[in-house]
Amino acid sequence: MKRYVVCGLSNRGLASFVLPLIDAGDTVVGVVDPDRARVEAFNDSVLPGVRERLPWYAPGDFDRMVDELAPTTVIVTSPDHTHADYIVAALARDLDVISEKPMVTTAADARRVLEAERDSRGSVLVTHNMRYIPRHRQIKQLIQDGRLGRITHVALDYHVDLRHGGSYFQRWNRVRALSGGLSVHKGCHHLDLVSWWIDAAPEQVFAYGALNYYGPDSPHRPRDASGKPYTGAELREHDPYYQAQAGSGVFPEPGGRTGLYGLAYEYQYPADTYLYDDEIDVEDTYSALVRYEGGASLAYSLDFSSPWEGYRVVISGTHGLIESRHGRTPDGRPLPGSDTFTFSPLFGTPETIEVIVREGGHEGADPLLNNDLFGEPAPESLRQGLPADARQGALAVATGEAIWRSAMESRPIDIAELVGRS
Ligand SMILES: NC(=O)c1ccc[n+]([C@@H]2O[C@H](COP(=O)([O-])OP(=O)(O)OC[C@H]3O[C@@H](n4cnc5c(N)ncnc54)[C@H](O)[C@@H]3O)[C@@H](O)[C@H]2O)c1
Repeated sequence: MKRYVVCGLSNRGLASFVLPLIDAGDTVVGVVDPDRARVEAFNDSVLPGVRERLPWYAPGDFDRMVDELAPTTVIVTSPDHTHADYIVAALARDLDVISEKPMVTTAADARRVLEAERDSRGSVLVTHNMRYIPRHRQIKQLIQDGRLGRITHVALDYHVDLRHGGSYFQRWNRVRALSGGLSVHKGCHHLDLVSWWIDAAPEQVFAYGALNYYGPDSPHRPRDASGKPYTGAELREHDPYYQAQAGSGVFPEPGGRTGLYGLAYEYQYPADTYLYDDEIDVEDTYSALVRYEGGASLAYSLDFSSPWEGYRVVISGTHGLIESRHGRTPDGRPLPGSDTFTFSPLFGTPETIEVIVREGGHEGADPLLNNDLFGEPAPESLRQGLPADARQGALAVATGEAIWRSAMESRPIDIAELVGRS
């Protein structure tokens, strides 16, 4: 019987791990989180009548927690920069790890994890859940079946809408030391997806990046008639992002932040935060070129203040081409065309393919993902190579870091320079 501990009682940790595991009758045996009050509030308000209280441990007590609770698996769902130490500590105790994406925030930490895994009886799985979305698996299947031939090029434009994008700039995600920057924190999803689709590791990156929408120099920063920036309630009143989303819960109201079940956070932001704060040190716009082993390339763009959320992707091969546009508006309406994509053989008639929608969270990705994380991977998952290992987690982080480094240093960055060769 597996025994899970959760490091980081985050919104994500609650929604995707703790509650589904408890529902399934699996054993979560403890929580590691610096915010004792949050863990105790969870014990007091959510668990009564469901199960006994979860014991709380401070981050510095990880080894004592392992001695006392004897877990088999450590689930890492804390802020990104804290993942590496938990993963390495768990592997040192020969435990298995399930880590949220990004596996870590720097390529240097990715190397630490890969070395620790080499010396351990434990292993690491990374929750690259975008792979599991049914329409992404349909695309993978067409590629695996050889319908596109050898992949030559991918063009992926990814847009994060102003609600979701703005939320990153109010939280720990906006600080590079905590998130790795958004080319790592968010880009790792897309970079992993493309690598997995085309079954090729990234080799080299060239990129540009900038802060265009948020931060102190934002063109949307509200100012009074004399040009002085508003603060506090006046800022909220004049802030187009805040006004577009007031009452949605995305933007924290004065007096602190709460998450799922109204559980308060002590972590990092008890006070007000704004999209224009000096603390912001990450980019909100990227354009990158990535070359892969085998010769395919990717043209990738990512921005965090769009009128809609989703992507346009074109995957070209020697024998055909896939085109897909998928997305929704900030109020949740699907974009026209999101329920189909097209496959055009090089010589032949284009096919319109209906997107498969499955039951379950994240567009039907969660049931199979949870099966693979908490049980034995399903045969269909193994056939498509769905579970992401530490090396793949490391490559997604290194590619995201290479985007930032290339933008800063104005030169191509070799992935081997950052994580070595496999
Ligand atoms: N796969 C996905 O689609 C997806 C979606 C959302 C978030 N995530 C990932 O999930 C993780 C959690 O993100 P979130 O936004 O839900 O977090 P959050 O901001 O809701 O919560 C962070 C939690 O971690 C705790 N914490 C802070 N420092 C810690 C430490 N040193 N050790 C243990 N706990 C610590 C905080 O007290 C808080 O309870 C991140 O890695 C994030 O990238 C993944």
